[in-house]
Parts: sequence; C-alpha cells; structure tokens
Amino acid sequence: MNWLDLFSDFDGSAGGRPLYRRIVDHLAALIQGGTLPGGTRLPTNRELAALLQLDRSTIARAYEELISMGLIYSHVGRGSFVCDAPQPDRTDAWRDRYSNYGGELKQLMECLPDPSVSSYPGAVISFAAGIPSADSYPEEEFAAIIKTLADGNAGALFKFSPAGGEPTLRKLVLEHLAGRSLKASDGELMILSGSQQGIDLMSNMFLDAGDLVVTEDPTYFWAISNFRAHRARIVGIPLDEEGIRLDMLQAVLQKGRVKFIYLMPSGQNPTGLTMSMERRRAVLELARRYNTPIFEDDFSGDLDYEGGPLPPLRALPGAQSLVVYQGTFSKALAPGIRLGWLVAPAPVVERLNFAKRGSDLSTSSLTQTLLSEFLRRGSYGRHLERINALYAARRDTMLGALERSFGESGVKFLRPRGGLFLWMTLPEGMDARTFLSFSEQEGVSFSPGDICYVGKADPCTLRLSFIQNDTTAIEEGVERLFAAFRKYRRALGVQTIDKTEPEHVLI
Ligand SMILES: Cc1ncc(COP(=O)(O)O)c(C=O)c1O
Repeated sequence: MNWLDLFSDFDGSAGGRPLYRRIVDHLAALIQGGTLPGGTRLPTNRELAALLQLDRSTIARAYEELISMGLIYSHVGRGSFVCDAPQPDRTDAWRDRYSNYGGELKQLMECLPDPSVSSYPGAVISFAAGIPSADSYPEEEFAAIIKTLADGNAGALFKFSPAGGEPTLRKLVLEHLAGRSLKASDGELMILSGSQQGIDLMSNMFLDAGDLVVTEDPTYFWAISNFRAHRARIVGIPLDEEGIRLDMLQAVLQKGRVKFIYLMPSGQNPTGLTMSMERRRAVLELARRYNTPIFEDDFSGDLDYEGGPLPPLRALPGAQSLVVYQGTFSKALAPGIRLGWLVAPAPVVERLNFAKRGSDLSTSSLTQTLLSEFLRRGSYGRHLERINALYAARRDTMLGALERSFGESGVKFLRPRGGLFLWMTLPEGMDARTFLSFSEQEGVSFSPGDICYVGKADPCTLRLSFIQNDTTAIEEGVERLFAAFRKYRRALGVQTIDKTEPEHVLI
C-alpha cells in the first residue's frame, strides 16, 4: 500500500473541521470506497504521524474514532486493521457521543477471546474463565432453602433491603470474616451486589479524571477497564515471587499523590500468586509511610490449598484506617448469586453506601435471604472444606499434567497455593494469541495474558483456570494444549523440543 499516494490529496493545513476528524473522513472514504479492503494493515500512529507531519495523538484519536465507527479494529501488539465487512456509515444519534471509554472498549473487546467461537468439532475444554464448575454448586441444599423460603413468609423477599445489606446476612458475614482473623464492626461493613460493584463504587467515590491508581501488573482485566472508564491513570507495578515489587512501589509512592493501591494479595488474578506474609507487612508499612490507602480485593481468599488462607492485609495491625477490603461469594460458592462484601472505615462505608444507592438502590432481598440461611446452617463452612479439597486436587492434577507434558519445553509456570489460576509463560519467540489459535484447533482454550497488563504486555503469557473442569477433563485439556504447542513449534520451524529445565518462579 502506498500511503503517500493515498494521502496525496489530504491537506492537513485546511481549516474548518478538526484535524483528526478530517483524517477519519479521509480513511473512512478509502475504506468505504473499497480502496482499503478488509484486513489491510494501517500504518502505526507513529508512521502516519511522520508521513502527515502531525502529532501522534491526532492520529491516535482518529483511529479511536474509526474503531468506534466499526471500520477498523486494533490488536494489541499487532497493529490496526480494516474490518472485514465495513459497516455502512451509521448516522444514529449515539454514534458521535461515546466517551473515550467507548472507543477503548471496542478496542478491548476485539482482544477478548470469544469462547463461543470454535472450529473444533467436539466439546471444547475451557481453561479460560474464573468460574467454579457446575459439579461444585450446593444445588440440593439451595433448592431446599428456596422451598422453605417460599413456604414461609415470602413477603420480606419482595421488599427493598437496606442499602448496606440484610441485617442477618451482615451479622453472618462479620462472623465469617472474624473466622479469617478479620474483625470489623457493623458500621464498617456493606453487602455488595457482587464484588465488581465494589470496584465500581470505589471508582465512583474516589476517582476523578487524571487521578493515579497503582495496581499490580498484570492485574484483573475488569478492574483496569473500570478505572480507565473513570479516566484514571494506572501505574502497574510488576510482581516477583512474593508479590508486588516493593522497590518500584516505593518509587511511585515517592513521586506523587496516588489515590489508592489496588491489590489482590491472595490468588492474584491473573497470576495466581499469593503474597507472602513478609511482603504483606512490608506493603502495609510502605502504604502507611506514604499515607496511601489500599484497596484490597480478596476475591478468592476463601480458596487456599496449603494450610488455610493467610490473613488479609486488612487484618494486620495498623490496617484499619488504611485498607478498604472486599470479598465475594462468586468464586468459592456461585457467581450467579451476585453477592459480596466490603469492609472499610465507617465514614468511607457511609459514602460508598450513598454511591451504591446511585448504582442499584439495593441488593436483591431474595438472594441475601437465601445466602443468610445457607450461612446460618453452617453450610458455607462445610462447603468450603469440600471445595478446597476438590480444587486442591484439580490444581495438583493440572500441575502434574503440565510437568509431564511441558516439563522440558522451556515453558514456565507458577505453582499457586490458592485461588483459581495458573500462570504460564511460553518460550521467547512464541506468543499466547497464536498459541490460542492452535489450541482452539485442538479443542482447548485459555485466556491470553496480554489483556491483563497495564504497561507493556508480555505476549508470551497466559492464564489457565484449574477449577473449571474435573480431573479427567484437565488431563485431556493439557494433552490438547501440548499437542497445540508442538504444532505451533513445528510451524515456527523448530523441530526438537528444547531440553531446558522447567522454572517455576517467573513473571
Ligand atoms: C479479582 C476480581 N475481583 C472482582 C471480581 C468480581 O467478581 P463478582 O462481581 O462476581 O463478585 C472478579 C471476577 O472475576 C475478580 O476476578
């Protein structure tokens, strides 16, 4: 494609419409007129900016607009391409009114794998999602409780519950947390409609455009997306084998005002890493020294396979005024119940409750009552015992299968002590997205790691969920993964598998 020719009649100095808009119009005309067919790779921001002697941000803005028009799409690390079937120019009233997030969202959605699309003829084994498997749900007991509730006084189920949650559930959640050495008073607690709501409420209450949020890097995709939607600037700090790197965290805290540090100390998403006790204390100490609050997301804190969960940051001495702590019933119990909790200093809870009312008025009374009864019977504790044993066996099966297949391949993987995820790094020169294409051909899928990075993504990384399948499916899935890996290696022209020793600590 001769881009110089294609832009020969483009006059950047002409007045009138904004410059980026004129680039959009120019490229849109080329795409819609068929001069740039589907799949055409566009010049990078830098290349086009140099060609037109313009600022890179102008080109970036134009590309964002073309993305939101459905004319081009962007692949992290690969570039921007013309969509296969260009949409006719849409003229509906919403088209020009998306926030910046609208453009970014479309871009991100292009990167998210669609688990429903597969060319594999049989059943695909998915290691992609962080959700429990169907055989783990306490279906019978829930059915029995629902029947009891329906037979009894169902009137309460139809009413709004208080914004902070049903009183009985609140009491039982506080008891559960006390069992995890986290003591909180009633005024410090709120019930959430799922912990994703906690992330949203924290953003609503604390983030203004341009504010700085520090996260681990990589981190939870939907937290990045939410913080960005609130126009926050995110600084990602890499991890080592004990958790977030202290030296780099300190360097950022020293530089300027950070609104909060978002952390997942247990079973971190996506790496599965659990922060050591020593690192927990050190992070808290650092946060205290720079008077910077921590937002602790303990989404899988109830899942630990090696001697019981470590205490959350919020349970450590001196953390009460500094840490906002949240958890969820989605991972250890069931995601569809949409219930979680948040513990924070009382004045913060008061404000977050206000934001919650602006978000959903109140959490479902039906599910709260249902869960209260499950907790009241002591069933959640028994469920956790069962589920921790089940998931420990699944983790060990996956680790064993990976060792056997990939042990000498140069692939590295972390051994998680809890949570849901196992983090894998392919040898240099390979990338997880191409590996995913090969894997889908073999009937197995996973989550590529690149979408979870705040800074420069490591394209070699990927996330495997080990809780989602039974041990037979895990063994079979890992075999398929290895078959895909061999095909990928062959396609790269590598005939033999490297005889390098496996390593287990690397991010
Ligand atoms: C780290 C983390 N936080 C929060 C959530 C939100 O979970 P839920 O809204 O189902 O409680 C998830 C879900 O995957 C997660 O991985």
